[in-house]
Amino acid sequence: MCGIVGYTGTQQAAPILLEGLKKLEYRGYDSAGIAILSGDAITVSKISGKVDKLVEKTEGGRNCPGTSGIGHTRWATHGAPTDINAHPHLSNDGRFAVVHNGIIENYQELRDELLAKGFVFYSETDTEVVVNLLELYDEGDVKKAVMRTASRLRGSYALGVVCTDEPGCIYAMRESSPLIIGIGVGENYFASDVTALVSYTRNAVYLDDGEFARISAEKAEIFDSSGTEIRKKISRITWDVQTAEKGGYEHFMLKEITEQPRAIKAAIDPRLHGREVTMDDLVLSDRYLKGLKKILITACGSSYYAGCAGRYAIEQFSGIPVEVVLASELRYGNALIDRHTLMIAVSQSGETADTIAAIREGKSRGAKVLAIVNVVGSTIAKLADWTLYTWAGPEISVATTKGYTTQLTVLYLFSLYLAKRIGIVSEEKYNRMADALNALPRLIQESLDMNPSIPRIAGKYHSFRSMFFIGRNTDYAASLEGALKMKEISYIHAESYPAGELKHGTIALISDGQPVVALCCNDFISEKTASNIIEVKARGAKVIAVTFRDNQNILSLADDVIYIPRIETELSPVVEIVPLQMLAYHVAKENGCDIDKPRNLAKSVTVE
Ligand code: M6R
Repeated sequence: MCGIVGYTGTQQAAPILLEGLKKLEYRGYDSAGIAILSGDAITVSKISGKVDKLVEKTEGGRNCPGTSGIGHTRWATHGAPTDINAHPHLSNDGRFAVVHNGIIENYQELRDELLAKGFVFYSETDTEVVVNLLELYDEGDVKKAVMRTASRLRGSYALGVVCTDEPGCIYAMRESSPLIIGIGVGENYFASDVTALVSYTRNAVYLDDGEFARISAEKAEIFDSSGTEIRKKISRITWDVQTAEKGGYEHFMLKEITEQPRAIKAAIDPRLHGREVTMDDLVLSDRYLKGLKKILITACGSSYYAGCAGRYAIEQFSGIPVEVVLASELRYGNALIDRHTLMIAVSQSGETADTIAAIREGKSRGAKVLAIVNVVGSTIAKLADWTLYTWAGPEISVATTKGYTTQLTVLYLFSLYLAKRIGIVSEEKYNRMADALNALPRLIQESLDMNPSIPRIAGKYHSFRSMFFIGRNTDYAASLEGALKMKEISYIHAESYPAGELKHGTIALISDGQPVVALCCNDFISEKTASNIIEVKARGAKVIAVTFRDNQNILSLADDVIYIPRIETELSPVVEIVPLQMLAYHVAKENGCDIDKPRNLAKSVTVE
């Protein structure tokens, strides 16, 4: 979704801001703009469309001189993606410019109030009220105007502000939307995402809700909402520049798929020592664990599907019932949550609005929250009682791959941890699972290597309008993610279905040539899925089976086969999804889709 950047120092600001905006492109956006402060003037340049168009319009930033400024990529919410609605927005008197991520919920009421006072609005955005409130409250002290403005806003925001009264100064304010200050030498930055900062500095200060910063070339002063200066820890950004760049791959998605063996190793290594799982970031007392009545996993999209796949191992190894609830539904349902519930919130970005709302709901009903998150210092990591990072590194492609598999890996590690603490599994089973987890990076690599035929299979099926993904139990859980990958990047309607359910209605949709991807990696029920394959084939379906090389029964039924190496059944989804990511990738490529930035989607969904 939207992204913001800010720079102040001695270099020309515009090229740095444009570069930062390029780094934020992956989040999804439809317009872009910058505001440069030079002396007592602000130059705004903005445009609907890609950052490259803005680069062209500003001649690489050369026609916007000045050494401090702010920039924005907008994902339209209030008003169409037009030049006028693009950020930055200027106050009526032209002295303030603002960029904004998030949503001002009370903007209509504020707009009416400002209209009554004679302010004029040029855009349809909620943001324009912010910049005019700054003008309204400015009595010669920008810091005070910022504070008064913040006190009037309801909703979520990461805001960047410049004012002609304070040349060389940029302000940044945060409420429920990520904002990071980058500390340089003789120059400083802010951004909504570390990927925009890593090329310039690795020293970062993560703002918390209600805090704001006044940033000059020499220093970054951080204040709480009452305006009192506070000291904040400077953290080291560990993500490197290369992992946020394509490195010779045609798409980020392909690069991130192939990074999975390494990413999964990074999730496992600090936590699995031989067969011993340690979770230093987690302090669950024996008393707390004994009193646990249920585990509730909540998340959205692929993170939710990771929860669906991870539940089997957690339930089996801990004996605690697991419920998996979509975060966007949690508040409106009657999920029983109390202090005997451990809520696990799963999120790659750590900024998903629905998941944040679900966590707040869970906490208000007495649950403790364990977050499984990739982005360090994100809102969800801060909100949770405990956080287990997935250590996947930056994930740029909108369609998650290593984000999902590392989440699942951490859920498996957690299931083993519980097995040791309160478990109901035999030592023999525990040891087998621990060995399988240790082998996971190698098995993921094998699943990539053993399928050179995937581009050919993609070529055979890419022109179909729909696909089914079927499986049972853990295979069904993996099929949910397999189908989502296909949908979101190839725009082919893909439906995942529990194989045993087809005959209760949906089988009516199977006709001649219909592609059905059948996941058969769960040894306990593979035979049952085989019957379902026979049923769909009898109605003309073409079956692409995902299975082991030695599964003769399934191999004899399938039209095409995708192989995975043998793996313990409970862990199979993390392996079987990898070739399905590849299949979706190659189908999307055949169809000429914008693989890394699929239409209508954003990397981090910060609206409910
Ligand atoms: O950042 P999160 O994991 O909280 O994001 C949740 C979903 O928005 C995300 O998984 C989405 O479904 C992806 N596009 C899937 O590839």
